[in-house]
Amino acid sequence: MTLPNAAALAADMPTAVKIVEVGPRDGLQNEPQPVSLEDKAELIRLLAVSGLRVIEAGAFVSPKWVPQMAGSADLLALLPKRPGLRYPVLVPNMKGFEAAKAAGAEEIAIFGAASESFSQRNINCSIAESLERFAPVAEAARAEGIAVRGYLSCVLGCPYEGEVALAKVAEVAEHLWSLGCYEISLGDTIGVGTPARARAMLAAVSERVPPERLGVHFHDTYGQALANVLACLEAGVATVDSSVAGLGGCPYAKGASGNLATEDLVYMLQGLGIETGVDLEKLAAAGRFISDRLGRQPQSKVSLALAGRAA
Ligand code: HMG
Ligand code: MG
Repeated sequence: MTLPNAAALAADMPTAVKIVEVGPRDGLQNEPQPVSLEDKAELIRLLAVSGLRVIEAGAFVSPKWVPQMAGSADLLALLPKRPGLRYPVLVPNMKGFEAAKAAGAEEIAIFGAASESFSQRNINCSIAESLERFAPVAEAARAEGIAVRGYLSCVLGCPYEGEVALAKVAEVAEHLWSLGCYEISLGDTIGVGTPARARAMLAAVSERVPPERLGVHFHDTYGQALANVLACLEAGVATVDSSVAGLGGCPYAKGASGNLATEDLVYMLQGLGIETGVDLEKLAAAGRFISDRLGRQPQSKVSLALAGRAA
């Protein structure tokens, strides 16, 4: 049997993909057991050693709402600083921005939703109110030379409302873009999307935001994340969020599993001949480190296979 070669499969895809590693933030934010700042710093150090260059390190949100993200300022102080290595942090409002700035954050992410109910549960305000809150944050950040990323949640479904209209997704994405975000990450918060729907969503948003400024962020609740990424790569997307060892879930999206595991993403991209700059073995070691600390196996099939632990 003759298999098509990697170059032929990858013909219409980007030659390189930027991976935004969200494990230390999205991955750990929902962990009920405490994870020490030292362990978080070691995880991030190992992720950087693996070659990842954008590692979302924490969130300047209310510690009453998300206790696991408390101490993000102290964590930033522990991290190795190197040119080209970026540690974005989530910021929901001016209070969070001031704290992030004081901690030396060089990049922040504002985070909105395409669903009213999710916006209320996640950040305690309507979509319109959230955009009003984000405007001064984005303005102040840009005045300080701090880069701003925009997240949009529930682009393929909402845990409270079910289906979300693509027109709404495109409208809120455009609004975030107009605030000066350099990139919009489209989040399938509860992992309900499938490839054709992901492509349709991407097409709808691409009419309002330059497609080269879009990233995708898939949770893997229904095991569709990798297939969705492939569909989006075929449509030209070159920025993908993922979480080492498949850590994660959102505190305000009950039942949502972790993000797509970074190890699985890197393995697929390598197979497609797409450059990531990541050493898979070192990445898997980072995933095993944090999984050991959490007392469980990595939720990455590639990681388990590499360790000879696949079922
Ligand atoms: P609120 O209660 O409406 O805020 O919360 P408030 O302004 O009324 O303040 C209430 C208290 O919070 C006050 O303290 C404030 O000082 C404090 P108190 O007087 O009671 O002691 N406070 C803060 N403390 C620290 N940092 C701040 C801050 N702001 C207020 N920045 C708020 C509004 C947004 C703060 C709250 O709802 C919150 O923190 N939510 C966290 C939401 C969150 O982190 N969700 C998970 C991340 S989003 C996600 O995972 C999705 C994503 O991965 C993409 C995807 O998958 O779709 C990005
Ligand atoms: Mg997420």
